Amino acid sequence: MDKKIIVALDGYSSSGKSTMARALARKVGYVYVDSGAMYRAVTLYAIRNGLVNPDATIKTSELIKALPSIHISFAPAGADGVQHTLLNGEDVESQIRDMKVSSLVSPVAVIPEVRERLTALQQEFGKEKGIVMDGRDIGTTVFPHAELKVFVCTNAEERARRRYKELLGKGIEVSYDEVLANVLERDHIDSTREVSPLRKADDAIELDNGTMTPEEQMEWLLKRFQETVAK
Ligand code: CDP
Repeated sequence: MDKKIIVALDGYSSSGKSTMARALARKVGYVYVDSGAMYRAVTLYAIRNGLVNPDATIKTSELIKALPSIHISFAPAGADGVQHTLLNGEDVESQIRDMKVSSLVSPVAVIPEVRERLTALQQEFGKEKGIVMDGRDIGTTVFPHAELKVFVCTNAEERARRRYKELLGKGIEVSYDEVLANVLERDHIDSTREVSPLRKADDAIELDNGTMTPEEQMEWLLKRFQETVAK
């Protein structure tokens, strides 16, 4: 039997990482973990529990105190083929995707204690290997020894266009300008934070998927996967 590996997919917001990661995991029978969903779930908890100040900043010390009562898990993919994120046992998959969460998630993801807790959980998920995980710091911090690392980049306008279409498709009312502003804002916060900033790992392969179809992207990734497993 082929050896099991860890696949780390990192990159900017809305670059199509999750779609690629999910498709690869399904194709090769690996577990898929969306690390961004975990930061989003912590953010939803903060919103629901009044841990956001009126000026839209996070009540950091209160959120840190609450961390032990925030439990995140995933329910296996159902009929829609998508794995659902659970916050303290409740399915919050659609709530964590809305713009309110998107606009507060990067400030939450800056908090070192939040990162420490989620990183430990992510490493636990990867203990047996055979996993595809996407995020910002998977190849640098969570799994620095991952056998296959991919760093996805695409220009911000194209990423915003894709996310805008995706949100409209889900019936979420939003303008293109709002989505673009959010993409740029998160890119900035994610790449300039002190702990585990978004950056390409030295040994990651870069993929600019701006002009690729989802099928071409998948073919590219599957080829890299097969080469790595055969090494
Ligand atoms: O919108 P998109 O799918 O690109 O983002 P996401 O993967 O759902 O991640 C949401 C946010 O969580 C990011 O903008 C980061 O601020 C944070 N994040 C992180 O800091 N580290 C990760 N490994 C994953 C996400």
